[in-house]
Amino acid sequence: MKKFPEGFLWGAATASYQVEGDIENNDWAQAARERRVPVCGRACDHYNRYEEDFDIAKSLRHNAHRFSVEWSRIEPEEGKFNEDAMLHYRKVLEALRVRNITPLITLWHFTLPLWFSESGGFERKDSPEIFARYCAYVVSKLGDLCTNFSTINEPSVYGSNGWLRGSWPPFKRFALTDRVSITNSGRTFESKAHKGMEPLFLYFRVMKNLARAHNFAYREIKKLSLETNVNFVHHVIVFDANGNPLNKLKAAIANHFWTHVFMKRTKGHYDSIGLNYYFYTKFGDRRAWRKTDMDWNFAPERIYDALMMLKRYKKPIYIAEAGLADATDSGRAEYITKQVDAAWRAIQDGVDVRSHIYWSLLDNYEWALGFEKRFGLVAVDYSTLLRTVRPSAQVYKAICEQNGLE
Ligand code: BGC
Repeated sequence: MKKFPEGFLWGAATASYQVEGDIENNDWAQAARERRVPVCGRACDHYNRYEEDFDIAKSLRHNAHRFSVEWSRIEPEEGKFNEDAMLHYRKVLEALRVRNITPLITLWHFTLPLWFSESGGFERKDSPEIFARYCAYVVSKLGDLCTNFSTINEPSVYGSNGWLRGSWPPFKRFALTDRVSITNSGRTFESKAHKGMEPLFLYFRVMKNLARAHNFAYREIKKLSLETNVNFVHHVIVFDANGNPLNKLKAAIANHFWTHVFMKRTKGHYDSIGLNYYFYTKFGDRRAWRKTDMDWNFAPERIYDALMMLKRYKKPIYIAEAGLADATDSGRAEYITKQVDAAWRAIQDGVDVRSHIYWSLLDNYEWALGFEKRFGLVAVDYSTLLRTVRPSAQVYKAICEQNGLE
């Protein structure tokens, strides 16, 4: 039996805009009105059905749940906070508490209130202060019910999709990126992006501001409560290479820019690290990879490499997202099992891993790709909103129940 440490957190994640439904005053809803991304609409109606969804999570023996709170609901106008939105999220946290499910809250998962995005968003010089004020407000209202907060979800993905690839708001596109595209974030919409050199400079500015925003938020949250576990969630791509020295150099440079630069900029400002793992890519690779529905390499075991890349930062690591789109559910159980096995190996090799949170609890709105991709342990029929637990969820349930693998 490959046992995980006592108290290990098992569960699944969601994010506000992708599941809640009826959010209209953020940059994604605006982009949908402009027909630049698919309409999200009522999504999974999780805003009203969270109890039912947490019952399912409980029945699947999850002892943790990661979700995000929606900035545009909480601060609909600059500096004006909405108490009702906080009451809602308090109810959500209560619903988790009565089910003995530990919450992990993400304060910002990609979507921006319109007042912020329309005034420049993270290009704004004062964006770090604005972001820190918002984070501190949320923690001051929810901190008694939750002790794990992540400030930012995936800064590298946010910056590159918004300012290099131009596939996400604010659709700025740096011409050269077309050649080095790795992730599938929604090709259909990229052609409408404005294209030029300027996005590259803005991208650097945004990445700097995101790091400062996290650092400021970290300090503000710590003023409220020293015990709160604060991190950001990093999307780590494992760039690998064959024996060719040039390819090795390419991989080292890619890992440096994608993963390590942000870690360095936030040094001293995280109590742990959130890890999202989806990609393994090898320069000079000739292998014909089996693919997920996102057309990503089916490489669950390479989460080991991602964990090893973060080991040097000597902090506990929370696997905050890991999963695949698999509409037929034919590879999900194998994917999860291999991935959990790899996480177990990393623990044996000295990495302090504290959680494995599958992406996602439910099928949901996959950003610029709309509702077609199916990441859920639970299938959602978008016309009836009926939830159906997929067979692979039972395999994961056994892992959660036993706190390990046979
Ligand atoms: C994001 C999720 C997204 C998932 C699958 C992660 O990059 O945090 O919001 O749905 O990957 O693409």
